[in-house]
Amino acid sequence: MEKKRETFSNRLGFILVSAGCAIGLGNVWRFPYITGKYGGGAFVLLYLFFLVILGIPVMTAEFAVGRASRRSTAMSFERLEPEGTKWHVYKWFAMAGNYLLMMYYTTICGWLILFFVKMLRGDFTGMSPNQIAAAFTQVTQNPWLCVGFMVLVVVLGFAICAGGLQGGVERIVKVMMTALIVLMIVLAVNSVRLPGASKGLRFYLTPNFHHMVQYGIGRTIFAAMGQAFFTLSIGIGAMAIFGSYIGKEKRLLGESVTISALDTLVAILAGLIIFPACFAYGVTPTAGPSLIFITLPNVFNHMPHGQIWGALFFVFMTFAALSTVLAVFQNIVSYATDLTSVSVKKACLINGAVVILLSLPCALGFSVLSGVHPMGVGTTILDFEDFILSNNLMPIGSMIYLLFCVTKSGWGYDGFIHEANEGEGLRMPEGGVSKIYLTYVLPFVVFCVFLGGYLIH
Ligand code: PHE
Repeated sequence: MEKKRETFSNRLGFILVSAGCAIGLGNVWRFPYITGKYGGGAFVLLYLFFLVILGIPVMTAEFAVGRASRRSTAMSFERLEPEGTKWHVYKWFAMAGNYLLMMYYTTICGWLILFFVKMLRGDFTGMSPNQIAAAFTQVTQNPWLCVGFMVLVVVLGFAICAGGLQGGVERIVKVMMTALIVLMIVLAVNSVRLPGASKGLRFYLTPNFHHMVQYGIGRTIFAAMGQAFFTLSIGIGAMAIFGSYIGKEKRLLGESVTISALDTLVAILAGLIIFPACFAYGVTPTAGPSLIFITLPNVFNHMPHGQIWGALFFVFMTFAALSTVLAVFQNIVSYATDLTSVSVKKACLINGAVVILLSLPCALGFSVLSGVHPMGVGTTILDFEDFILSNNLMPIGSMIYLLFCVTKSGWGYDGFIHEANEGEGLRMPEGGVSKIYLTYVLPFVVFCVFLGGYLIH
């Protein structure tokens, strides 16, 4: 007999958990620093363009596969593919992708919690920018701290997942997402009111095509496309699963648009918090990945009541990252429950141990394993894991989801459109133009992203 599948308690639960999966380090960390790097407003425009033409259709495809199959990626292709075809082989890659993301995400999430504690204790007060940089290096180079906080994240995450979809993930993510949005608004208002903030706003919001030309238009375009994939969590079935927990009341394109809009809102707000603050204190926001860990504590040092603002900032970052961890853990748990007869609690226990083990290389990558440079001098295990996921699995997977949904050898266009358009809300266009776009143009564009990622690396 088939097990009864869990569902979200209501539509808000679906929207917030999906948004929780999408909203993460990609929005609050990656988006601001690459926007800083590639020239502010001009980059934001490009990114929005790709989000609409590329990200939203793929997300809709994922939700449709999930809702029609009522399974996670571990079983969804089997349920929908024509007999004798091999689409389901991709499930192993998709599942690996979810684990891979957690293999480095848990470490960064651990740093965020640690930085929250440090901010709260006033550890950075009075430090010079160089001392703050040294403090960050000290954290990453301390194996016990990195592993300890990573384990904390994993244990906390699976403990919540063990409560089930409604009682665990949905309940907690709803609270975290609401708190996140409130916190962001408070932080953004504080930031834009700082004296000198307008320079930051100008940098962030006025398109500067000079910067773009300086870094190379090609590079900027690929960065914008890559960001669109990463931030929407598409290509590895991480979103598809949430389609499997909802009913047929709403059309899926409309849901994808709402979730992408929330995701973008948070990314834009993160920039509104960070850029004005940087410019107000004469700090350049082009530091790259260390922007939030080095540049910002320095900024908070100059701010009146900076210790409190800093602590609030890291709470908000932690919530964004943790909601993604919970959503991906939900995926991981459901692989076990879809593929075997194991209980949710047992799946959490086993996966907790597995994810801790898998996360060790990244957590130790800056100390014990700092001699390992998988992609050449200067690269870390974290970079390597992110490269495999962001530059390979996500674009290839997005292409596979698209092709699966539109070609006859897969689920097929009719099945897909019928599923996507069931219910009320924004309708996926059905005509020939849309079919040609989804079948030929989009997979080709995605393929170019994949290739481009290699060429510019
Ligand atoms: N979208 C998440 C973020 O912005 C990352 C993610 C990628 C989550 C792939 C799930 C799957 O941080």
